[in-house]
Amino acid sequence: MIKKIDHIAIAVQNLESALETFRNILGCAPEAITIEEVPSEKVRIAFIPIGETKIELLQPISDDSPISKFLQKNGDGMHHIALETDDMQKETSRIATLNLTTLGSPKKGAGGKSIVFLHPKETNRVLVEFTEHQS
Ligand code: CO
Repeated sequence: MIKKIDHIAIAVQNLESALETFRNILGCAPEAITIEEVPSEKVRIAFIPIGETKIELLQPISDDSPISKFLQKNGDGMHHIALETDDMQKETSRIATLNLTTLGSPKKGAGGKSIVFLHPKETNRVLVEFTEHQS
């Protein structure tokens, strides 16, 4: 089942400066924020909690990162919406029956969670991520 919006992700060229901007907007304490590196996506990520959801800031750590390509094309901006599921396998099978395509198979994303993206050409050009959160 899809449970909620887990996070909304923004691609940025400068993580520290974007972090300060959004931390100020949200009035969030610095100690509530986690920064981590996700080698599989070649990005540094900061999560800023807002109630039950989060804003994720993504900065590429290499020129061949998918986020580098996004920034070259679009500049800073909204990158994806992540939906939380309690059963990745069930949701990806359900998606397949709707003739929607995932970009590859689920892999380990931030926090070691299983994630997969849906093809944006089939989702109104909004990149949608499924992230598994087992209860
Ligand atoms: Co994400």
